[in-house]
Amino acid sequence: MKDLMKKLREQAVEAIHEAQDVETLESIRVKYLGKKGEMTSVLKKMGSLSAEERPAMGKLANEIKSEIEEELAQSRRTLEERMLQRRLESEAVDVTIPGSRIAIGHEHPMYSVLDKLKDIFVGMGFEILEGPEVELADYNFTKLNTPENHPAREWTDTFYFTEDSNILLRTQTSPMQIRAMEEKPLPIRMISPGRVYRKDEVDATHSPMFHQIEGMVIDKGVTMGDLKATLNLVVKQIYGENTVTRFRPHHFPFTEPSCELDIRCHKCGGKGCPTCKGEGWIELLGAGMVHPKVLRNCGIDPDVYSGWAFGMGLERLALGEYKINDLRLIYENDKRFLEQF
Ligand code: PHE
Repeated sequence: MKDLMKKLREQAVEAIHEAQDVETLESIRVKYLGKKGEMTSVLKKMGSLSAEERPAMGKLANEIKSEIEEELAQSRRTLEERMLQRRLESEAVDVTIPGSRIAIGHEHPMYSVLDKLKDIFVGMGFEILEGPEVELADYNFTKLNTPENHPAREWTDTFYFTEDSNILLRTQTSPMQIRAMEEKPLPIRMISPGRVYRKDEVDATHSPMFHQIEGMVIDKGVTMGDLKATLNLVVKQIYGENTVTRFRPHHFPFTEPSCELDIRCHKCGGKGCPTCKGEGWIELLGAGMVHPKVLRNCGIDPDVYSGWAFGMGLERLALGEYKINDLRLIYENDKRFLEQF
């Protein structure tokens, strides 16, 4: 029995020394010292010993047990220390390793164009206003001298929210003319960029949502000459000092007289090419002198004040500026497209 216990001790100590982790140590403890362990089953046999042998054997058994326990505790400490050391090493941060570059986005080409425009107008003393995309028909049409049953108010062109056609997605940024005149003290110099909506099918040149920028000046003694001079200045800052412009008569319900502004094609110099669709000219925007009725609708006396306004599509400007041939590219957020700018 003595030999058996000593042999168990040797085996246990050897196993403890070979153990590489605390889990193994625990299974060694169970194997030798556990309730159903080797030592326990030896001790159970103590009953068969004589009364003289029993105390010495019991003493030895206890010694061996505490020896194994001591070995286990010691090994556990060593292993835990080694594990901590390993963790410290593996989790250490090497600040000299080159970092992985974070992909930073950049401004969308259309917003670059818008920013350029904002800078130009702010430089001339215009303030930037923001208005609602969900608008009252009163602001989008009626107060802009576009009465009920005017063809521009057709259900086929406009997204209405209500049966009575009172609430809609604005079809233009022009309602901001009304909002500015109602809310701002005179004189007014403002621009207002934003989204507008029309029932158009998506194709290379159409989208049911697009962007416009509205501009308006209201003051005493403002004339068509101011409109032309200001817009000429803006166009030259965008397209270059030598850009040739053309103001062509047009009609809008809320301006009188009205015009459209074209620039001579910067690609072909006016001979006609794919960029200007053979026209030699590129249409840029609609404009005009604010209609006296519109001024009156906003409580402004047209005999004292006058003003001019313009509205311009932003997508078209970006397409022209960056030689983009499909409007859809502006909205699709394809990185391969956007990264070119
Ligand atoms: N709102 C007009 C359009 O969408 C443009 C415009 C604005 C014309 C202001 C004249 C004055 O076509």
